[in-house]
Amino acid sequence: MENREQWGSRVGFILAAIGSAIGLGNIWRFPYVAYENGGGAFLIPYFFALLTAGIPILILEFGVGRSKRGSAPLSFSRLSKRFEWLGWFQTFLSFGIITFYSVIIAWSINYMIFSFNLKWGDEPEAFFYGDQFLNLSDINGFNFGGIQWHIFIPLIIVWAALFLIISRGIKKGIEKLSLIFMPILLILMVIIVLRAIFLPGALEGLNHLFTPNFDYIVPWGSNPEWGQVWIAAYGQIFFSLSIAFAIMITYSSYLPKDKDVNNSAFITAFSNSGFSFLAAIGVFAAIGFMANQAGSDVSEVATAGLGLAFVAFPQIISEFPAFNEFFGVLFFLTLVVAGFTSAISIIEVVVSSIMDKLKVSRAKATAWICLIGFLISLIFITGTGLYFFDILDNFINSFGIVISGFLELILLGWFIKLATIREENNLVSDFKIGYWWDIMIKVVTPIMLLIMIILNFRNEFSESYGGYPLSTILIFGWGALAIMVVVSAIMSVIKWKDSQEGIR
Ligand code: ALA
Repeated sequence: MENREQWGSRVGFILAAIGSAIGLGNIWRFPYVAYENGGGAFLIPYFFALLTAGIPILILEFGVGRSKRGSAPLSFSRLSKRFEWLGWFQTFLSFGIITFYSVIIAWSINYMIFSFNLKWGDEPEAFFYGDQFLNLSDINGFNFGGIQWHIFIPLIIVWAALFLIISRGIKKGIEKLSLIFMPILLILMVIIVLRAIFLPGALEGLNHLFTPNFDYIVPWGSNPEWGQVWIAAYGQIFFSLSIAFAIMITYSSYLPKDKDVNNSAFITAFSNSGFSFLAAIGVFAAIGFMANQAGSDVSEVATAGLGLAFVAFPQIISEFPAFNEFFGVLFFLTLVVAGFTSAISIIEVVVSSIMDKLKVSRAKATAWICLIGFLISLIFITGTGLYFFDILDNFINSFGIVISGFLELILLGWFIKLATIREENNLVSDFKIGYWWDIMIKVVTPIMLLIMIILNFRNEFSESYGGYPLSTILIFGWGALAIMVVVSAIMSVIKWKDSQEGIR
């Protein structure tokens, strides 16, 4: 009988799952994705994606992890030996994500320290991209632009902290951290939102976020790119709920066998969306204030992407009526805390897969993975790191995760008895799920994902992503995905130590 680690309590498991879900994706990604995609109208595809894909897949992954009690490759291979490859592919997607995710947490630590004297000065944009911070260099000609040593230090701290927590294990490391960090995160966010909504102009910002623009999401409306809105909604749900890259299977594999999963999935999903809304309210109230100060329209000041957290926010913080430094520290601390609990879950995926397959100790697996991950993440703190990060992030999100999700649904929906997973879940759960769930897993969501995959390929081949040089796209986009596919194949032909895949 194997001796798998376990969560100490159900609350511990749920908080860890919520901690994984709530991350950088909720604080800087959700608000600008919602804004860019029609504001209030985005909420319709968002909820559609949450109900048809997010929650059903979360229930599926919790169910698989709980009953198969293994890392993603082990759980998949216990379902069918032929599925093991997908578990590895998901594991390597996670590994890819953590190499740049860790860098954004490092930036947030930098900015938390900068907040003490508002170091970004009057021109946060020039500060962020220029030689004082990213030192962004020309991407043509493969000039890496050298490592930015001021980011190197927080990056080491991030990786060392990740190592320390994960090597302590599930109960003493991850669960304990989640029990402390998650309440802190909520308190931080509530303080920020309460401050932001009373700023002058806040209401204008909120109007922009929540005014529905239905025209935007339908084929007969004003937006010829309406399909992109739906793609963005699904992408946001997958990344934010940490589904289809092995996290939720791994976390639920540490559940005692008789623990509820259906209810836990609903609690996790709704907490995650609730937090996203809270963050969006705070961010857009602040943007409304910024527009108010500049005497311009909200649409002129709302920036997208990383610019929102590291360009717009520093400016907003500088313009605050009082306690600027305090709110600066608070905002970036929130990013650090939210990002860190997600980063933990992303690495735990890899640690648990390696521990299961090679039967090495947790300390050894964690040390090696953190060391290799750290070395790779150095690429993203060079002068061209931001471009590489942007490409890898896009390819992992637009192709890696969507394809992984599609395959997961097809394999589990059509090649094993899906109803068994539903029945087993219902046996241990308060809330019973019905046949609707099978329909989502087998039909509705795979169709949506297939359309997304086709549209994403079409977009990529008609115009390569971001206007980057083809060689860079080939290496950090297609190349990175190809390496993941090949390494996954290699890992799945290596034999399990102690023929564990037979153990149920
Ligand atoms: N779910 C995590 C996030 O949203 C990865 O950042």
